[in-house]
Amino acid sequence: MTTTVGIAGGTGALGRGLAARWAVAGVPVRIGSRDAARGETAAAELNAELPADAVAVDGGHLSWLTDRDVVVLAVPYESVAPTLAALADLPDGRLLVSALNPLAFDADGPYAVASAGGESIAEQVAATFPTARVVGAFHTVSSRQLAQLDRPMDEDVPVVSDDEDAMATVITLADRIEGCRGVAVGRLRLAATLEALTPVLISVNKRHGAHTGIRFSDLDLG
Ligand SMILES: NC(=O)c1ccc[n+]([C@@H]2O[C@H](COP(=O)([O-])OP(=O)(O)OC[C@H]3O[C@@H](n4cnc5c(N)ncnc54)[C@H](OP(=O)(O)O)[C@@H]3O)[C@@H](O)[C@H]2O)c1
Repeated sequence: MTTTVGIAGGTGALGRGLAARWAVAGVPVRIGSRDAARGETAAAELNAELPADAVAVDGGHLSWLTDRDVVVLAVPYESVAPTLAALADLPDGRLLVSALNPLAFDADGPYAVASAGGESIAEQVAATFPTARVVGAFHTVSSRQLAQLDRPMDEDVPVVSDDEDAMATVITLADRIEGCRGVAVGRLRLAATLEALTPVLISVNKRHGAHTGIRFSDLDLG
């Protein structure tokens, strides 16, 4: 059965890039926005840029994502609460994927922002939405790389969850993106470490003029 995907924040850099890559791979994607018209416009603009054999992307309000098998959160981490509120009608057991990175910038560059309780954003999503199966993934994938549809990606996508089936579903979605390899990492508590990797990558990118991702060495997944 085809897995349907909704992307909360699909009008933005990461969401748009993921939508494009999945549409090219034949995955049905809906873009969700705080403003329904903005979601519809973003989908139409994206479709105009996609190859003719891509699956058409549709778009609308965030609340229109609740019939999707998998909803990817791709909004600024500060806006996770209102975004989850808009998804309140998500049926029990649906997959919520957090790609959110709590980070900030100062004169010394990017840095990870720790929550008061030390838990990751993905764990906060799980606590706020206990009826969903929460997965952390796509934290380290560059939206700039995703947007270059003529170039395959070249990176691993670490995936964490307390639900093995949910993790497997998201690994399959990661694998559908040409050049990406989903890697099962382990429990959701490891999301804090993944989230904190992104400031490292941004700093590398700034120093070396790159759009780097990560690869696990000496890992043969068969
Ligand atoms: N950019 C990347 O390369 C990348 C890679 C990996 C992970 N991430 C993570 O993915 C998330 C999204 O990153 P992004 O760069 O795609 O962000 P973005 O382009 O700044 O924002 C994504 C979307 O979120 C919505 N949004 C923006 N501000 C909001 C607010 N104050 N309240 C509610 N919604 C708001 C907007 O959609 P509407 O206005 O249409 O609602 C916007 O198009 C972040 O947590 C980031 O850490 C990003």
